[in-house]
Amino acid sequence: MLIFKQAGQLQQYLQQQKASGVRIGFVPTMGALHQGHLSLLRRSLTENTLTVCSIFVNPTQFNNPTDFQHYPITIEQDLQLLLTEGCDVLFLPSVAEVYPEGHIKKQYNLGPLETVLEGAYRPGHFQGVCEVVDRLLEIVDPHVLYMGQKDFQQCMVVRRLLEIRGKATPELRIGDTLREASGLAMSSRNMRLSPADRDSATALYRCLQKVKEALQTVPRAALEQRAQQELEAQDFVVDYVAIRQQHDLQPPVNTGTPLVVLVAATLHGVRLIDNLPLN
Ligand code: PAJ
Repeated sequence: MLIFKQAGQLQQYLQQQKASGVRIGFVPTMGALHQGHLSLLRRSLTENTLTVCSIFVNPTQFNNPTDFQHYPITIEQDLQLLLTEGCDVLFLPSVAEVYPEGHIKKQYNLGPLETVLEGAYRPGHFQGVCEVVDRLLEIVDPHVLYMGQKDFQQCMVVRRLLEIRGKATPELRIGDTLREASGLAMSSRNMRLSPADRDSATALYRCLQKVKEALQTVPRAALEQRAQQELEAQDFVVDYVAIRQQHDLQPPVNTGTPLVVLVAATLHGVRLIDNLPLN
């Protein structure tokens, strides 16, 4: 595996590869890698000739400084995992490499996506995600970009970013959410849960499943409220349990529109998100 820390060198290397017909898949991450990340990596490895993974804990997407300070860093273990999987290239930049002097902060027009759900609870978060993904795409310029459905709204924001960029590539491919056997969605932040809280956190997925099961029989608002109360009874501080239209994350208007239920809740200081497509 080649490791690049400098954007210019990586760009040059990838341009040479592309000139000889290599097809590039790209998996951006913030490290503390788990099977969810690796599922995207494996898919890229099978669908492309060269796979680039990036590990960069992007400061501009953290609206909460404590969350940034406590974000897990497990670089030695990450390197081992990437080597074992056969990743071709790792991009491991510094903040100054991603945001060099003179970097101009753009404002991305994300429409209502910016202010619903995660947008409402994490002001500025999606602008930060767009800023870093835009910059990483400028450096890597892949044919295919891999993102996880675990971050449902982020996938939609990145799709919007690709429209704004207005280039033919990359194509966005979205991978399913990988879960522990317990149902808990894999997340780097799970490392911050105590063993007991890791158990309790499985309530999130159970609550999403219950919503799915009762969707045809119980009114939507009652379902959301019931789920929220159940989580609160188990010590979660709930930001939202929301049943929304998949295509724009707005409350459902027409029957027949594909829906998704999304949840964000904090358990003893660790904020977790999950979602489940409903039809
Ligand atoms: P990070 O949380 O490290 O996630 C990197 C990628 O892995 C994202 O596309 C995310 O949706 C996906 N992922 C996370 N957990 C997953 C799971 N359980 N199953 C499947 N895929 C999963 O998301 C980010 O980093 C950052 O915001 C980033 C896009 C890298 C920009 O900084």
